[in-house]
This record gives sequence, structure tokens and C-alpha cells, in this order.
Amino acid sequence: MKTIIITGGAGFIGSHVVRLFVNKYPDYRIVNLDALTYAGNLANLSDIENAPNYMFVRGDITDAAFLTDLFAQYQPDGVIHLAAESHVDRSITDPMSFVMTNVVGTVNLLNAAKACWQANAGGFEGKRFYHVSTDEVYGSLHNDNEFFTEETAYDPQSPYSASKAASDHFVRAYGNTYKLPVVLSNCSNNYGPNHFPEKLIPLMIHNIQTNKPLPVYGKGENVRDWLYVVDHARAIDVIFHNGRLGETYNIGGFNEWKNIDLVHLLCRIMDQKLGRPEGTSAQLITYVTDRAGHDLRYAIDAHKIMNELGWQPSLQFEEGLAKTVDWFLANQEWLNNVTSGAYQGYYEGMYANR
Ligand code: NAD
Ligand code: DAU
Repeated sequence: MKTIIITGGAGFIGSHVVRLFVNKYPDYRIVNLDALTYAGNLANLSDIENAPNYMFVRGDITDAAFLTDLFAQYQPDGVIHLAAESHVDRSITDPMSFVMTNVVGTVNLLNAAKACWQANAGGFEGKRFYHVSTDEVYGSLHNDNEFFTEETAYDPQSPYSASKAASDHFVRAYGNTYKLPVVLSNCSNNYGPNHFPEKLIPLMIHNIQTNKPLPVYGKGENVRDWLYVVDHARAIDVIFHNGRLGETYNIGGFNEWKNIDLVHLLCRIMDQKLGRPEGTSAQLITYVTDRAGHDLRYAIDAHKIMNELGWQPSLQFEEGLAKTVDWFLANQEWLNNVTSGAYQGYYEGMYANR
């Protein structure tokens, strides 16, 4: 049996990765390591929390001593590292939390994996450290015909992207210096179930439903390349198993949308779903002060992962967005618990006596 530590498994993307691995690989032991910050929510995993090959460990990757003990105890064969501070707006008001978790936490994990694997007779043989990263490390595109490739120079513009760029560099440095078996991916914007409602799509869905203003930053002209979160999880699966060591893979949906067009599309979908006259929700759109240093456009060239590993997105955007809206409307309790803060008691309620 292989043991895989997945960090950040109670978050948005991590929960989909944990679910996919637990269901698809019954012979793996999946250890979900998560600090349960404001972004972590074990309700995201309620359907698999009793699976025999799944376990949850609450812990903070900024704690090096804790990680040393954890790796000694579980002797993992692989690490899939998603734990991070992930919201750009929060990084503007509190950059140090991003340095701590994204940079220091990642280096702590690299050290723990390296020490644990070096202490075994087999060394690094058959081991793998996978760092899940973002396209924001490449900065901003300004010409319509440009795309981020794996060769694009790093040019991070926000404290968040600077911290992710630093962590990518450390992962590559450990691969180069210590020959740690590493692999990386840089993905575009995800959307789908369990998305925390501070990010554009779930925030808009929630505000439309509750008749609150829809805050569009600046003129709404910024462009993002959206990918359904389950397609990202599928990409992580193929890269973890078949990606070449030392390589980076860009992941994206070839699906660019200006923010304002996306918000209008969401308004139309929500008007239909809620039985409101067309145009009702769009009246909630409110232009607000732009995000400081707001990157204009992200767009991924995903040909490497498509050609080399045979991955491709499974869902068209309209289908994925409709599924997402349906999920949020059907999971009102999840949304209410998150927006009220009640979800933060889930861990204590579910695990306190185990
Ligand atoms: P998220 O904010 O939803 O979840 C992050 C998870 O990490 C949470 O469960 C949180 O509790 C945990 N965490 C935070 N600090 C921790 C710490 N110090 N120790 C242990 N756990 C900690 O994030 P997400 O959107 O799911 O993103 C996951 C990863 O994917 C991140 O590394 C992010 O940079 C990357 N990424 C995200 C996107 C996106 O569109 N959301 C796109 C590309 C890459
Ligand atoms: O590209 C990958 C990145 O995508 C990930 O690395 C990040 O973790 C993830 O949060 C996401 O970053 P963005 O900043 O692109 O996502 P966000 O949902 O915060 O914003 C999307 C766009 O919408 C961006 O141009 C800012 C704008 N926006 C956002 C919010 C929250 C608004 O206009 N209004 C809003 O209220």
C-alpha cells in the first residue's frame, strides 16, 4: 500500500483531489494534512470521511518539528502539496501570512520529505514531491495572441503570486541541489463546488441569490482563463503518476473570459434558475475600486500536458458553470455555514472525540 500525504485537502481544490484519489485508488492510504484555516472545511469531504483508505490530520506546515514527526510516523511515498494562502486580495492586506505558509511552509515540507526519504534504504527511489502552483507566477499578459507556456519567465506581481513563485523556485532548487524527485504544475483559475465565496464566481452566485451588490473591480476588463475544478484534479492525477520528474506542466481550459462578461453570463443563468425576469440580477452589478496591481490577463497554453500526458478538459464552460450554480443552489446549508462562520465548528463536532 502506498501512502500519499495531500496538503490543503480540506480546501477548494484539495478536497476534489482527495476525493478523486480516495475513490480511484483504494490501495492508497490518503493522509489529508490541513491546518483548517478559514479556507479549510471538512464538510467538503463529508462523503468520503469514513472511507477506509482516508485519514485526516490537523496540522500546520509552518511547524517544522510537527512535519518531521508526521513524516516519520506515516512514511509517505508521495506528497501532493496544495496547502496555501490562496486569495490575492488577502495577500495585499496581510502578505506575511503568505510568506509563512506558501514559502516557509513549502520549504518545511521539502525538508521533511528529504530527511524522511534519505533515512530509508531506498532513498528517493519511487518517491515523488508534487507542488501544485498557479499561472499567476508568470505575471500579466498584455497582447491577445500571447499565452503562458512552461518557458515563460516568472514575473509575479502580487504578494500572493510572489510567494507562490518563491515556493516554485524552492521546489526546483531542491530538485536540482539534492536531487529530490519533484514535479510541478501551474494552473489557471478554477471554479466549481466547494469554492470559497470570497472568490469571484461563488461570491457573485451568493450575492445574486441574496440580492446584494455584485462588486466588479475597475472596469471589469480583466481576463481570466477558467477551468472546472474536477478537470484540475484529473490533471493532478496524471501529472502525479506520469509526469516526468523535474518537469513543470501548465494546466488551463483555453477558456478566457472578461470579468464583466462572465458576471453578465452568471446573472443570466441565475435569472433563469431563480425564475426572475431576464435582466433582474444584472441590475446588481456595481463597479468598485480596482484591486491594487490588478493583473490584466491570464491565459494558459496547455499543449504540453495535452500532448505528453493525454489530459484534456472534460467540460465546456457553460456546462461547468451551470453545474456549479446548481451545486450552490442545492447546497444552501454549506453556503450558509461558510458565510456565517458555523463551518469552523465542524472539526470539533466531527472529530473531537475520535
Ligand atoms: P484554498 O484557500 O481553498 O485552500 C487552502 C487549504 O490549505 C485550506 O484547506 C487551508 O486550511 C489549508 N492551509 C492553509 N494554510 C495552511 C497551513 N499553514 N498548514 C496546513 N494547511 C494550510 O485554496 P485552493 O483554491 O484550493 O488552492 C489550492 C492550491 O492550488 C494552492 O496552492 C493554490 O495556490 C493553487 N491554485 C489555486 C487555483 C485556484 O483557482 N483556486 C489555481 C491554480 C493554483
Ligand atoms: O489564476 C489562478 C489564480 O486564480 C489562483 O492562483 C488563485 O489562488 C485564485 O484565487 C485565482 O486568483 P484571481 O485573483 O484571479 O481570482 P479571484 O476570484 O479573486 O478574481 C478573479 C477576477 O475577478 C480578478 O480579475 C479579480 C476580479 N474580482 C474578484 C472579486 C473577488 C472582481 O472583479 N470582484 C470581486 O469581488
